This record gives sequence, C-alpha cells and structure tokens, in this order.
Amino acid sequence: MIAQTPTQNSNQRRILVTAALPYANGPIHIGHLVEYIQTDIWVRFQKLVGNRCIFICADDTHGTAIMIRARKEGRSEEALIAETQVHHQRDFAGFDIQFDNYGSTNSPENLELCHQFWASLRAAGLVAERDVSQLFDPEANTFLADRFVKGTCPTCKAINQYGDNCDKCNATYSPTDLIDPKSTLSGATPELRSSKHLFVELEKLHEFLESWTQCGKHLQTEVANYLKGHFLGDPLRDWDVSRPAPYFGFEIPDAPGNYWYVWFDAPIGYIASTWAWCKANGEKLDDWWRSDATEVHHFIGKDITYFHTLFWPGMLKTAGFSLPTKVHIHGFLTVGGEKMSKSKGTFVKAETYLKHLNPTYLRYYFASKLGSKLDDLDLNLDELISKVNSDLVGKVVNLASRTAKFANKTGLSSTYPDDGGLFEAAAKAGTAIAEAYEECDFAKAMRLIMELADRANPYIENAQPWVLAKSPDSQQALRDVCTVGLNLFRQLIVYLSPVLPKLAEQCGALLGEPITSWSQSQSPLLGTQVNPFEHMLARVNPEDIQAMIEESKQENTPEPTAPADPWNDTADALNAEPLADECTIEDFVKVDLRVARIVAAEQVPEARKLLRLTLSLGGDVRKNVFAGIKSAYEPEQLIGRLVVCVANLKPRQMKFGLSEGMVTAAGSGGDEIYLLSPDSGAKPGMRVH
Ligand code: MSP
Ligand code: ZN
Repeated sequence: MIAQTPTQNSNQRRILVTAALPYANGPIHIGHLVEYIQTDIWVRFQKLVGNRCIFICADDTHGTAIMIRARKEGRSEEALIAETQVHHQRDFAGFDIQFDNYGSTNSPENLELCHQFWASLRAAGLVAERDVSQLFDPEANTFLADRFVKGTCPTCKAINQYGDNCDKCNATYSPTDLIDPKSTLSGATPELRSSKHLFVELEKLHEFLESWTQCGKHLQTEVANYLKGHFLGDPLRDWDVSRPAPYFGFEIPDAPGNYWYVWFDAPIGYIASTWAWCKANGEKLDDWWRSDATEVHHFIGKDITYFHTLFWPGMLKTAGFSLPTKVHIHGFLTVGGEKMSKSKGTFVKAETYLKHLNPTYLRYYFASKLGSKLDDLDLNLDELISKVNSDLVGKVVNLASRTAKFANKTGLSSTYPDDGGLFEAAAKAGTAIAEAYEECDFAKAMRLIMELADRANPYIENAQPWVLAKSPDSQQALRDVCTVGLNLFRQLIVYLSPVLPKLAEQCGALLGEPITSWSQSQSPLLGTQVNPFEHMLARVNPEDIQAMIEESKQENTPEPTAPADPWNDTADALNAEPLADECTIEDFVKVDLRVARIVAAEQVPEARKLLRLTLSLGGDVRKNVFAGIKSAYEPEQLIGRLVVCVANLKPRQMKFGLSEGMVTAAGSGGDEIYLLSPDSGAKPGMRVH
C-alpha cells in the first residue's frame, strides 16, 4: 500500500475509485484482469497528476455458490473465503495492481452499513413483502438458485439446460418451467416451495433513475441508451433482495430466518471497504461518501451494468450517500477471437500466467487495446508478442539500453543540448496523452506515446553514440547525445508509468530520481549521475506462452457436471452423416411438408426396395408415391396411419408409374427406417412448419 502525501495543490481533486468486487468462489483469471488493470492504470494516472485518489476493492463473499462449495469441501464458509482472499490479493499484487484497501463483504463495517441502508429503504416505504415459489432441493435442504437446476428446455426441448436460460435456443424462463428439473447439487427432483421474500420497489424511484441515467454525465452514451431502451421505457421490476435460510450472508434484522441477497450487500461493500480504510488512516467516511467534494468512480464489466446503474444509484439515493460521479463500463475479454475456453487452455488463471510471463506484458497489451467504449477486447497472443517486442523492447527500452552505459561514465550534461525540438514537442504532447488517460482511452494514450518513441529513435540512430564512444575527441558530443536519449526515454516512461510501474521504478533507479509526478515529463533531468544500466525487459518468448496455455489445459479438468444425460444418446448417427450446409428459412419454406394419411399400400413386385403408397391429403386429394421402405414395413401395417410427406415435390416418372411426392423417414436404410408421424390430433393436409 502506498502512503498518500497530500499536496497543497488547490486544483487537486479527491477521487474514490472502485473496481467490481470479485466473487470469492473462484480464482482471478485474465478476464478479470482487464478490469483490475484498467482501474489500476486510471488510479495511478490520477495519483501521478497530483490528485488525491484512493482505490478500494474487496472480495464478494456471500451467496449460495460459496455456501455450497464450502459444504462440498467440508469446511466453514469463513475458512473458504479467508483462503480465497489471500489468493486474490496475491494475484493482484503479482500484476502490480495496488489497492489502498482490499476488504471483504463479510465484515462488521458491511453488516452495519447494510442495516443503515435497510432502515432507509424501510423508512422510505420502498420495501414490499410477497410470497415467492422457488424450487427446493429436499436432499440438500436448500432453495435452488437458477443455475443449480438443470432440465429440458421448455421451448426447444434441449436437455441439460440451466434454470434461467437455454444455451441451445436462447430462450429465457424460470426454473419452474423446466421439463423434468433436477437439482445439480444432489440430482434430486426439486419441489416447489413458497416462502416470504422482501422486495425493493424500484419503480418508486423511476423518475430519479431516469434523470440520473439520462443526464449525460454519469454513463457512457451507449449504456444510457441501453437502459432507456431496455428498462426505463416500462415500469421497473421490483427487486427481490431476500433469501430464506439456509444462506451464507447477513440475516435481515426485521425478517429473521431471511438473509440479504448477495447483490444487496455486495455494492455496499464498496462503502464498507472505504470505511475500513478510513479507520486505519484516521479519515472520516463522510468525507468520501457523503461529500460533494469527492468524486466516486466505479469500474465494472458490462455484465453487471443493471446492478450498478439502477439498483445501486437507487439505494445510494435512498440512504443519502454520494451518487457515482461516473460508472465506467468495459467489455469482455476474448482470446483469439473466442470466449475463454478451459479445454483450449485460454481460460488462464492469473496465477498460471505469472508462472510463465511477465505481468508488464499484459498490462501494456491491455492498455494498448482498451478504449472508452464497451467493445469486447481480444487477446491475440501473436499480437501481444509483437506489440511488446516492437514497442516496449524495441522502441522504449532500447533508448536507454543504447545510451545508458556510456552515460554511466560521463553523467548527464548540465544544460540540455539541442535535440531539434524533440523533448519540447513531446512535453507538449503530454496534454493530449493526459486527456486520453482521463477519458479511459488508453489505446489512444499508448498510440500517442509510441508516436513519440518513433521520433526519438531515429535521433539515436543518426547520432550513433556507439561510434562516438570510440573516439576520445567526441566525449562531449557523446554525453550530449546520451543526455538527449535518456531524457527522451525518461519522458516516455513518465507517460507510461501508470501502465508500467515496474519500468518506471527501473528508470528512477537508473537516473537516480524516482518517477512520482507527471510534471517530470515537462523538464529534462540534467547534471546528474547515471547508475549502471541493468537489464529492464526481456522480449516475449513464444515458448513461454505455449507453456502457459498447456498448463492451463492441464489444470482445467472438466467442470463438475450436472447429472448425466439420462438417455445416453450416442453421436453415431450424427457422425455418420454430418449436418448439411446451412439453409435459410426461405429455403426451408420452399419445401411444403404436409400431414397425409396412407389410404392404400401395396408391393411393387418388380422393385427391390419400393412400396407403392396412396396418400390422402384430405378431401379427395390423393397422391401416388413410391417409397423405399419395403425392407422395414409390410403394406398392411401402413394402411390408415399418418405420415409427413413432401407434397410439392416435382412428380417423377418411374419404371412402375408416376411418383408424386415423398414420405419422410429417419434412418440409414435396411431395416433401420423409421417413418415420421405427427402427434395425435394432426389432420391430413395440415402443413408442417
Ligand atoms: N461479485 C460481482 C461483482 C460485485 S460488485 C459490487 C462479480 N464478480 S466477478 O468475479 O464475476 O467479476 C468481477 C469483475 O470482473 C466484473 O466487473 C466482471 O464484469 C469482470 N469480468 C469477469 N470476467 C470477465 C471477462 N472475461 N472479461 C472482462 N471482464 C470480466 O461480478
Ligand atoms: Zn431451448
């Protein structure tokens, strides 16, 4: 933790920054790191330009998932979350993510604040009570959250789907709609049980939320529009904030046996963690959470937008705390253009990454990709190699490695030599770079900085210090060239220091003055000693990346799965005949499938495989069809039954007569032929859609 030195600067802003509180039920992975690195960069930037800024986070510890996992592992929830917290903090530190306080939602401060919020909601008349029917696992003795129930999708009948939505047809539904639901905890068939739940009536805050979200100041435009389009056009749904026992969380004081839902107490954890920091640092909580002089900035991923832009402002407003100055929302990480995948080894844990690669690489790569929009961000490993090697090693560190060893002997010149205006121009560029940081457009900041590096490098190439070093007459010239080279290097490092704190430290050590302020980019360092150059940053080794991916594959043994598919269908048929090329709905409707009744069936003695069928489409519409089903059906069996036929197939003259259609059947031929028939109730002539 870094000690804050308050300066006297009157323009100094006071800024409280949070990143989302990671769930305590799993490890930190590279997807999370997009957010924590992004936030850390922004915080470091604010500190560097002299603002008073604190970075607050905590583990999000409550809820069913933690309770279930603790049970499975035969230990208390407290033991589980304590261990996770140690791992999380270790991983964040490994990536140079520096919090001013890292707390826990299972803290006394959070409990007390939850009571305060609750009292305010009650006093404002925003709490309603209602019965909720929920699936209950009688074996595991717990109500089942949506993702602890699996069953058959009520819409498309796909098996093994979660209780909230179907990943085959994307239908959303409630777990009670599932066909043949099973608890993923015990495999038991859940029963529907009713219990009393408490709701926050968000609609009563509609007007406030409309104006707060739409005023143009607090949210990215696309977020404001999304909320307007998806939620604010209708009455806001009441928010169910209680869960009956058993539940790992805080018990609701005026509803014994009921607990606050994890998403109720999680954001309050932002304040609780700030409070713990205040206690440790002799600060007043009200200065940070109830003061117009303090900005509050939340950084979150797009998946938790709703909680942070509707519920949370509503709660803050009601309880009289500061509203967020800004909620900064980022997109999701993909790897190689795809969702992170355990089997492909692209679901990389922070811990695994650190075993193989330098955190500086990922910090720089993410910075170079992060804009201020919500676009997803792709980690392309080849691009990571080339960006780090060509930008950081090739353009930035190179400036120091080609000059520092000579300057170590001579020190820096005492006046700044003529560099053709390079330093001055780069100092001016600082304004645009700072603006880009402030706007969270780190990609732009990195581009601007690399443009400066592109101008600095030719200077060294032309001046050739390594040649000057060989001639005793050129020592002053050599010193001047190195003074320029090292100052241009240092200037870039000041600009990069929010992203690359390690490199900034190394630069400070080399030149004998730590990087602590943005203003150091505005004037050169002169007349000082230069310490021996120590290796700063290795090129990325592609083999290390491979090793990281391999290890990630190994450690990701298949996810614990729900009860096995009870039908155990093999993939043989699908493998024997893979799916055909995609067709459009327009293609499909060209084929007019109808229900038909077989009214006559007879052998065709001359044909090995065929039966001759007379199909009725209702009324007196008949079709004569030759069907290749002789090996599997006797004519007598068929008379009277309903089938599905292709009714608009172009008639075909065969040896034995005219075939005016086709009956549909599954199977591979031989006696593996199965005619399709509609469920009972269907009538001849009905179209099949
Ligand atoms: N516990 C909640 C947050 C509560 S905040 C009061 C939560 N935790 S999380 O561990 O699932 O995610 C933490 C943050 O990481 C979220 O902002 C989430 O959007 C972000 N990310 C998790 N996976 C991510 C990617 N694959 N890519 C980018 N960000 C991701 O949500
Ligand atoms: Zn479905």
